[in-house]
Amino acid sequence: MGALNFRWLVNVGLLALPIAITLGVLFGIQSHREATGQPPIFTPEPSGRPKLDNNGITVENNCMKAFGIEPPAKGQKYILNPNQWGVVDGEGGTLCLNVTSNNNGTYATNTTAPPFYVSWQFPQRTTSQPVHAFPNIKVDGGVFPASLNTLKAINVDMEWTYGVGNGSVTTTDQASLTQISLNSNVAIDMFLDKDKTVAEDSAKANFEVMVWFATFGTSAKPLGFGKGIVATRVLDGATFNLYVDQNEQKQWVLTWVASAVTEKFHGDISPLLEDLLTMGKANFPSSSDYLGYLSLGTETFYADAPVTFSVPSLSIDVRSS
Ligand SMILES: *[C@@H]1O[C@H](CO)[C@@H](O)[C@H](O)[C@H]1NC(C)=O
Ligand SMILES: *[C@@H]1O[C@H](CO)[C@@H](O)[C@H](O)[C@H]1NC(C)=O
Ligand SMILES: *[C@@H]1O[C@H](CO)[C@@H](O)[C@H](O)[C@H]1NC(C)=O
Ligand SMILES: *[C@@H]1O[C@H](CO)[C@@H](O)[C@H](O)[C@H]1NC(C)=O
Repeated sequence: MGALNFRWLVNVGLLALPIAITLGVLFGIQSHREATGQPPIFTPEPSGRPKLDNNGITVENNCMKAFGIEPPAKGQKYILNPNQWGVVDGEGGTLCLNVTSNNNGTYATNTTAPPFYVSWQFPQRTTSQPVHAFPNIKVDGGVFPASLNTLKAINVDMEWTYGVGNGSVTTTDQASLTQISLNSNVAIDMFLDKDKTVAEDSAKANFEVMVWFATFGTSAKPLGFGKGIVATRVLDGATFNLYVDQNEQKQWVLTWVASAVTEKFHGDISPLLEDLLTMGKANFPSSSDYLGYLSLGTETFYADAPVTFSVPSLSIDVRSS
């Protein structure tokens, strides 16, 4: 234990976009370097690494475009990434990901994540690619790939807020967010495939299954929105509606969207996967598939003022038999 284990990586987590996108266009030289494990050209080495295995707290503000932050963890390991995959140089805007980690790697439970905060502001873009970033926290540490046959539960204990300003707020005030034209969502992003290795690859997996806990503004729409609701499931008091369509990469994208802003969620989301298996529809996942990837983040479109997405309390406990 001791120093944070920094790793270069990219986890783009392409969320459902209602428009055509091409990886080759999105990935500039900088992104390409990151995707191939090379340090970005323009970002400095992070400072403030914890020195020792002790009971202190480390707060790090990560404003680089893409960077894997893996805080020490005695239990469930997580990787956090600012993941500013859609940022164009010279356009303006900023995004910083604050991570508060315990140097001793011990948290309230063995699946508790380090608290984190994402402060950002991006201008509206009218081109066909309106997303700037998907800052996220990803479940790591050998949990995936997990066979759906043996998956028992994905217990999510989560409290988040979105607020105007660079600091965190205690509750989400939708009126003030509307006033500054926040366009974003809050989503869990999962990838599945019949091949366990491909399931871990967000660009190649056959299925992307998302759970949206909120959408702000009108920019973030699930793929298949115009085709109507395919199914509905209530979990922990929240109603999730399913939308389905295929994206430009020919991945099937299945999105469960909460009908209201759900900033507190304490429940097992695996029924949202089970429902897909039992619907008997063509081009839906099957029980012999693998879940290879799970992250939680916010897809940032634009806002007229700085906003902060805070996740002070999170645990993702994946159980297999
Ligand atoms: C680990 O560090 C945290 C943060 O300072 C502290 O609250 C906790 O009690 C420590 N745990 C142990 C087992 O020392
Ligand atoms: C957390 O603790 C439980 C109960 O001891 C155990 O079954 C589980 O595997 C642990 N999870 C992690 C990620 O360490
Ligand atoms: C918010 O943070 C950004 C980036 O660090 C900074 O440019 C901006 O001035 C801050 N805004 C306020 C209102 O503090
Ligand atoms: C993020 O980190 C910076 C410096 O470490 C701190 O000044 C700022 O208050 C933090 N922001 C939030 C929302 O916690």
